[in-house]
Amino acid sequence: MTTSAPTVTLRDGNTMPQLGLGVWEAGRGEPTYRAVRDALELGYRHIDTAKIYGNEKDVGRAVRDSGVPREAIFVTTKLWNADQGYDTAKRAFEASFRALDLGYIDLYLVHFPERKRVESFRALIELKESGQVRSIGVSNFTGRHLDELVEATGVTPSVNQIELHPFLQQRDITAACVRHGVAVEAYSPLARGRRMDHPVVARLAQETGRTPAQVLLRWAVEKGWVVIPKSVRRERIEENGRIFDFRLSADQQGALDALDEDYRRGVGQRLTARGRRAAGRCSSSRRGCGRATGSGAPGRGRPRSTRRGARAGAWRPPSRPRGTRRPGCSPARRPPRR
Ligand SMILES: NC(=O)c1ccc[n+]([C@@H]2O[C@H](COP(=O)([O-])OP(=O)(O)OC[C@H]3O[C@@H](n4cnc5c(N)ncnc54)[C@H](OP(=O)(O)O)[C@@H]3O)[C@@H](O)[C@H]2O)c1
Repeated sequence: MTTSAPTVTLRDGNTMPQLGLGVWEAGRGEPTYRAVRDALELGYRHIDTAKIYGNEKDVGRAVRDSGVPREAIFVTTKLWNADQGYDTAKRAFEASFRALDLGYIDLYLVHFPERKRVESFRALIELKESGQVRSIGVSNFTGRHLDELVEATGVTPSVNQIELHPFLQQRDITAACVRHGVAVEAYSPLARGRRMDHPVVARLAQETGRTPAQVLLRWAVEKGWVVIPKSVRRERIEENGRIFDFRLSADQQGALDALDEDYRRGVGQRLTARGRRAAGRCSSSRRGCGRATGSGAPGRGRPRSTRRGARAGAWRPPSRPRGTRRPGCSPARRPPRR
């Protein structure tokens, strides 16, 4: 990386590098370890993991081995859905804390707005007070979830990590974050690599002399958001880091702003029929069906929170009884862990 990432200041006064390495599906063990070591060598100072990614140990080991001072590195992990609740959140945190073995965690997020999100966040508030966590936040929360959390606990999360790229701009949620003074963190900022050949992105890459990935990331950082692109390839990690030495013009930003089509590659919030079609998934509203439909859609379907009678606003994890399959979906289409 030729330039170092600026930081954003969180509402609790801590700072967070605007660029991080995401390690979801980076591969447990050596692949994650290698990617984190490469990123730190290349100048990244921020790593985004989660208990459900199964690689907290590898991240911790890579950070410890890197030779970069601990205080110079920002590490995020997340509370998984099955661990939500006050006591269970504290126990899950202890497990993540031990797995990372870094002395403290910079940012701990409630991964999804599950039914026990408020109790979970109360546990996070205490973890921050204990000093084991520097900052606390949420992920995949809507404006309504943020309002509820602030009202119930009196504490505003510092960060909301949501899926964001030009094809999915979630303006209602980013506006709610601004209203609450919550920093916005963009996950899947490369649309999981599946929109690199979009003609507008390709044109802007040519105009700026940059790559499509750099154009997508630059669009997000110019909005003031934190980005956490994932790659396990050193050359791409480096490429994704070279985004702080050029600017997009207002016209170029506008051209990307115009691409919003509710296109979701991650699990995020509920898929609309339009979003499912854009993502090449089955547009049926049948519960749990996020099947890929088009030839270019590589079967990353995620069932959504569409269970009839589900408590309003409660995000439901995509689970079904052990050993059973979603009707019509092959095991290969099982939802990825994140
Ligand atoms: N909070 C949540 O619910 C949530 C959900 C999803 C993701 N996340 C976080 O956000 C991170 C990033 O999101 P993501 O992994 O979903 O997707 P992403 O960063 O948008 O895209 C990753 C994909 O793009 C490829 N890629 C990376 N750099 C590239 C480049 N320069 N040119 C072409 N292709 C490139 C990667 O392949 P290679 O690895 O082969 O390079 C990978 O297939 C995750 O790792 C995770 O930490 C959080």
